[in-house]
Amino acid sequence: MATSEEKVVAVIMVGGPTKGTRFRPLSFNTPKPLFPLAGQPMVNHPISACKKIPNLAQIFLIGFYEEREFALYVSSISKELKVPVRYLKEDKPHGSAGGLYYFRNLITEELPSHIFLLNCDVCCNFPLPEMLVAHRRYGGMGTLLVIKVSAESANQFGELVADPVTKELLHYTEKPETFVSDLINCGVYVFTPEIFSAIQDVSLNREDRATLPHFSSFEALQLATRSLPTDFVRLDQDILSPLAGKKKLYTYETMDFWEQIKTPAMSLKCSALYLAQFQYTTAHLLASRDGTKNATIVGDVYIHPSAKVHSTAKIGPNVSISANVRVAAGARLISCIILDDVEIKENAVVMHAIVGWKSSIGKWSRVQILEPHSCGRRSLVLKTYL
Ligand code: GDD
Repeated sequence: MATSEEKVVAVIMVGGPTKGTRFRPLSFNTPKPLFPLAGQPMVNHPISACKKIPNLAQIFLIGFYEEREFALYVSSISKELKVPVRYLKEDKPHGSAGGLYYFRNLITEELPSHIFLLNCDVCCNFPLPEMLVAHRRYGGMGTLLVIKVSAESANQFGELVADPVTKELLHYTEKPETFVSDLINCGVYVFTPEIFSAIQDVSLNREDRATLPHFSSFEALQLATRSLPTDFVRLDQDILSPLAGKKKLYTYETMDFWEQIKTPAMSLKCSALYLAQFQYTTAHLLASRDGTKNATIVGDVYIHPSAKVHSTAKIGPNVSISANVRVAAGARLISCIILDDVEIKENAVVMHAIVGWKSSIGKWSRVQILEPHSCGRRSLVLKTYL
């Protein structure tokens, strides 16, 4: 059980401009973590979920984007949620665990009993309080959120084997070439502060090995790892793999939705998932379907208060309309994200597409992707002017 004095902090890894390249061209204009999904910056969804963690003291975003890119967002979300949110900039990439270790003094300043660590580019309902309860029961150093996926897609993620009864993590392989398991790592973790010693051990071992004149055949196999900088530590390969089966790591399986957001096409799917979730969490954010003088709304739709949508337009399902968008008479929008300052002119149709900032879609235009159900790379990102 948690005591009232125990503090918990959350850390969200946001990466930097050299990561997330599959998200281009959308991430050329805005950092990927600030790209809107269901009308909110991507990182807003995990941040809002953190608010539900009991005794949450602070949320840190760690990345290597310029501080000015996050300054405005961080100050407004701190005020809105009434939880301090701070952006910490790495001078260079340190890896998913190295970044956490780099800021260990700040993260542990308030002596937290637990540290949540979240990848920014995952979409789920973040069952964080439930994970914390399970983690306390297991009594290990860390608990990972895991999910079953199709056997064909599992190799894009960390595959793992867990004890069906104790839930201990028994085996972990990052993106293996041959199939290990359809149970995968969701990129959401809770740790005790012991995680910092585990990361330090990896750095120290690497330093020692780098200075060894001769190395064993096992170490020879790890030549690639030897060449990594000592302060670059990957959570998956360097911590989860070696600590599996040592009664330190446990798993918490989610039966709810989970997706990774690597491509523009995935952002469309994840925007729809978050819109659907709003029905249960923040229904007031969804456009109402009952207006007689408003546009016709079908299914889950978000419309920014500053957007102007003509009463004869038909919008939805799964549409997100950003600030200062104008949608003219007779326009039809289905499964799309319309970014700031776009103009959709009379009778235009937009389906399964992302319309880029300040674009204009001409009268009677039709913008549509050919394979709407594909989650691959075939999303249409429109940056032009019809
Ligand atoms: N600040 C910072 N610094 N963040 C980083 C760095 C770094 O040096 N390197 C990665 N990240 C962030 C990314 O932005 C992302 O949010 C998260 O850490 C993980 O990124 P990757 O290390 O590139 O791994 P991945 O996304 O391909 O796969 C990881 O996540 C999957 C779930 O989405 C792995 O942990 C997989 O096992 C897992 O299935």
